[in-house]
Amino acid sequence: MAETTLDVRHLPRSEAYDTIHHQLTLVLEGITDPVAMMATVSAMLYHGFGHLWVGFYRVVDEGRLLRVGPYQGTLGCLEIEFGRGVCGTAAATRKTVIVHDVEQFPGHIACDARSRSEIVVPVFDAGGSLIAVLDIDSEHLGAFDHNDAAGLERLVRIFAERSDRVSSATAAG
Ligand code: SME
Repeated sequence: MAETTLDVRHLPRSEAYDTIHHQLTLVLEGITDPVAMMATVSAMLYHGFGHLWVGFYRVVDEGRLLRVGPYQGTLGCLEIEFGRGVCGTAAATRKTVIVHDVEQFPGHIACDARSRSEIVVPVFDAGGSLIAVLDIDSEHLGAFDHNDAAGLERLVRIFAERSDRVSSATAAG
C-alpha cells in the first residue's frame, strides 16, 4: 500500500480532521468490517496527532459493559462498566465527553499515569445503536475542545454510513 501515515499536527484542527477524514475514506475503500475500521482509525489518529492513547471500547453487553477493541498506545484496561469513568459516562449518556483535566473528573480510570486530558466520542451504527466509544488521551492539559468533538463525531459517522451500505446491499441483493 502506497499511503503513508499522515502527520497533521501542523494544521489548524478543522483542517487536520478534514485531511484525516479524506485519507480514511481512501484507505477504507470497500471495507465494512468494524474491527478493521477501528484499527485503521486508531492508527491514523494516533500517528496523525501524536496523542498518548487512541482506541475503541466496544459495547459487549448493551447498557452494561464495554470491552477494549483496537487501540494504539500503552496497555489499556480491558473492561469498563457503563457509567464508570469517562468512557462509561459517554456510553451511558450517548454523548461526547471532553475532560479538560482528568484529575477533576470523578471516577476517571487512569490506565496511563501520563494522561492529563481526554475526549470520548460515542460510535453508532446505521440504526442508531451504540456499538462502541472512541477514547483519546493526551499528555497535555486541555488538549481537546469542541473542534475535536465535531471532527471526531464526523469521523466515526463512517461506522453508520458503512453498515448502512452493507444493509442496502443486502436488501438489494
Ligand atoms: N481513562 C478512561 C479509561 C480508558 S483508558 O484511559 C485507555 C476512562 O476513564 O474511561
